[in-house]
Amino acid sequence: MKLDARVLPDLVSLSRAVLEDTFPIMKEAVAKRGRFSIALCGGHTPEKMYSLWAQTDQYRDKTPWDRVHLFWSDERYVPSDSPLSNYRMVRETLIAHVPIPPENVHPLPTTVSPPEECARAYETELRKFFGSESPAFDVQLLGIGPEGHTASLFPDSPALDEKSRWVLAVRVPAEPPQRITFTPAILNNGRNTFFLVAGENKRSILSAVRAESDAQTSQYPAARIHPPKEPVWFLDEAAAR
Ligand code: 6PG
Repeated sequence: MKLDARVLPDLVSLSRAVLEDTFPIMKEAVAKRGRFSIALCGGHTPEKMYSLWAQTDQYRDKTPWDRVHLFWSDERYVPSDSPLSNYRMVRETLIAHVPIPPENVHPLPTTVSPPEECARAYETELRKFFGSESPAFDVQLLGIGPEGHTASLFPDSPALDEKSRWVLAVRVPAEPPQRITFTPAILNNGRNTFFLVAGENKRSILSAVRAESDAQTSQYPAARIHPPKEPVWFLDEAAAR
């Protein structure tokens, strides 16, 4: 499958490029709908983008924080202070350093048990947030794992074929195995989708995704995300080579 790819020299320039593309979208969303919604991804790759957003005057001061709403496209089912928590990572790199109102931060409620209820509670929160609007994030950030997973949608997961639920509890072949993830039913609505992919250990999965002929039935979950506006893949040279 053909990827709409942008190749940047390294992770810092990749992170800046994602921010530079995000700002006009944020401005337009706030002008049109009064708010900007972004679904964040976890893992290591986006950490640099979050910290540049918080630490660079030009980005931090240009952001209308009271209009920005942060969501997570997946979360590990762990306490919010766990080293494995995606929320914790975003809190430490971004949230703790910017004047975003607490009510605009929408983490997965991982204290809700069991995980299925946690997923339901988050879906209820999303449905309330979008109301009668189309359930489409202005920006959704995604990563890709070495076997093609994205969010916590792993190969062969029944969640890949989910048509109505937006959020599901899933068990995955990675640490920690219990996770909560957006399904393609919501990810395939996003207004703008950015994949962030860096490092030479992503080279082989990128070639495998590119070699797939049918994206809709691809064995690689990341290849199955096709919102109306095709994803843009931000790659560093090490991954793209
Ligand atoms: C997670 C993610 C996951 C991630 C990829 C890539 O919670 O693990 O959201 O889908 O984006 O595994 O992770 P890296 O950026 O660490 O390679």
